[in-house]
Amino acid sequence: MKVEKVMVIGAGQMGSGIAQVCAQAGYKVILNDLKSEFVERGLGVINKNLSRNVDKGRMTEEQKQEVLRNLTPSTDLQDASGVDLVIEAAVENMEIKTKIFAQLDEIAPAHAILASNTSSLPITEIAAATKRPEKVIGMHFMNPVPVMRLVEIIRGLATADEVYQVIEDMTKTLSKVPVEVNDFPGFVANRVLMPMINEAIYTLYEGVATKDAIDEVMKLGMNHPMGPLTLADFIGLDTCLYIMETLHEGFGDDKYRPCPLLRKYVKAGWLGKKTGRGFYVYE
Ligand code: CAA
Repeated sequence: MKVEKVMVIGAGQMGSGIAQVCAQAGYKVILNDLKSEFVERGLGVINKNLSRNVDKGRMTEEQKQEVLRNLTPSTDLQDASGVDLVIEAAVENMEIKTKIFAQLDEIAPAHAILASNTSSLPITEIAAATKRPEKVIGMHFMNPVPVMRLVEIIRGLATADEVYQVIEDMTKTLSKVPVEVNDFPGFVANRVLMPMINEAIYTLYEGVATKDAIDEVMKLGMNHPMGPLTLADFIGLDTCLYIMETLHEGFGDDKYRPCPLLRKYVKAGWLGKKTGRGFYVYE
């Protein structure tokens, strides 16, 4: 099976990035969200990213226009009726995701693969909402999608080998590096990353060091591009909390207990860069 037409569901930070890299690789991409203003916002971000590439001489204006022509806006899930692959990047909520997958199962052609960009929710459970669990798989892109090379490819319990192979090959055409992972809470990326971020928040909570000091230690000491508290703001503190809760619940182990300070910030609406305030203040 060859993937030619892709639908991306969710035009937020992750969805617009996924749509961009797919369109740049020559796929015909339908970018779908609930409201046209969300889709327009996502397309605006893509346009800006492509313009930066033109300014930096990495792409001509004609190539940029070609990429934009590969993108079609949509607010109707019925548009999945002609695609080969759907990549869902909607909100991290199991109820919403299973509802979307059940609908897609009815709409998408029988051969179509249904992928989720979930950062930690079980692919096996999402797949169980469809009558084609063998064609359901995880494609976990990293933020910012146009820059980060990794895609975790998650096999659900029923994912077929052929489906895994199609998605691995397709990921390579996006100039990304696919890495195979099995379906356990947090997969690999967030199972390792989030406890580190949570522990950094505990060190702040317990007064071990200031936020700047904690970030400086990890940046200069471990050669991380961003300190863990800056990275948490960048990811979104609500997302960090949600993933910690998924790990805590999924493994039932107290080592994944979210730091009370993280809960407090989320309750205050201090969600990081996107709300202008998290551990740091953003203008
Ligand atoms: N979209 C597109 N391009 C972007 C971008 C964005 N949102 N942010 C930065 N870039 C590009 C810049 O244009 C720049 O490109 P050029 O050099 O070609 O012009 C390049 O990235 C570097 O950017 P900057 O010089 O502005 O800043 P930087 O050197 O600090 O790099 C960064 C920015 C790539 C984000 C870097 O800080 C970094 O790697 N941070 C860590 C990112 C990370 O850990 N991501 C994983 C998050 S966890 C996750 O995604 C999983 C999950 O489920 C939660």
